[in-house]
Amino acid sequence: MLDYILTLCYTLTPWCLVVGAIAVIRYLNRHIFIGEPHEHKITLRKIDMDSLHSYYTKGEPKVRNVFIQEWSDGFNGFAHVVDYGVMKYTDESVKILQEQEYQHAKFRLAHLKYMKKDKEDRNLRWVWFWFLADALLLRVSRPLGISLTGYVEASSFTFVHYPLLARWLFPSFDNLLIYHGFEEIEHAQVTLQRLKLHQSLVWDIIAFPIACFFYFMWYFGAPIVCVVTKPWILFQARTYMNFIEYFPLMILLQIVACWDMAVFWLLNFPLDHEGFHQIPGKNGQESTYMFCKEMLQKRGVTWDIVRSETFTIFY
Ligand SMILES: [Fe+2]
Ligand SMILES: [Fe+2]
Repeated sequence: MLDYILTLCYTLTPWCLVVGAIAVIRYLNRHIFIGEPHEHKITLRKIDMDSLHSYYTKGEPKVRNVFIQEWSDGFNGFAHVVDYGVMKYTDESVKILQEQEYQHAKFRLAHLKYMKKDKEDRNLRWVWFWFLADALLLRVSRPLGISLTGYVEASSFTFVHYPLLARWLFPSFDNLLIYHGFEEIEHAQVTLQRLKLHQSLVWDIIAFPIACFFYFMWYFGAPIVCVVTKPWILFQARTYMNFIEYFPLMILLQIVACWDMAVFWLLNFPLDHEGFHQIPGKNGQESTYMFCKEMLQKRGVTWDIVRSETFTIFY
């Protein structure tokens, strides 16, 4: 009996220490190291959907990397679930944020219609992922949904910033992903601040491996979906070059996504991309935000500004 109790203590002690350390760091970040106030502006835009879609109809894009294209389709296949999650788990005090997320979800539906018109309904290949995300983020339980939504919002910057550093892959990124990423960078700090009001330690610990596996399925599921639906690409030499480009990028993305989720959501460090994602000589967040904006303008995407609101965030 004594042996049993000692073994149990020996097994549980490290886990208790880890949970205790997480709880202490969260407490310090929430109540002691609050940081300086920063102003964050969120803008509601009315986008011209024809201009957003024109990239697909003008003979472009010259898709250089089929796996990146599949990865973009995967994003467009499930991202609206996260948008609905933010709408569901935040309140009216951030109405402009909810409206921005609602627009993202609507863009996706409009995008699906365009794809059907073009007789290429690529997003259907990701229905399984959509259903899985929908169940986990919106239906199984509210605290789990808040945790997973928080994890994705806390790490959304990584899957915009790092792929765009691989400039030779640009033509393979579609406008919908770039536009969505552009506004995700704009509202990430405000979203996290509001979602953190409802997070719970136990659910965040339970949800962390699920969130990591969620990214894993997207990043490393894309080549599988691509090959299963287009097996003939296995006979093209270019496919293997594409994979050599794709695979190291996804390993990097998986690592930085898990890192950001642990730091900014699980441990509650305030979301400050400048401290964690620096390009030498540049402010990572600002430069990626501006880069997305310029790329969209260069591709002829147009919008009107409906209204803006400013929020104070501490970091
Ligand atoms: Fe969104
Ligand atoms: Fe968002």
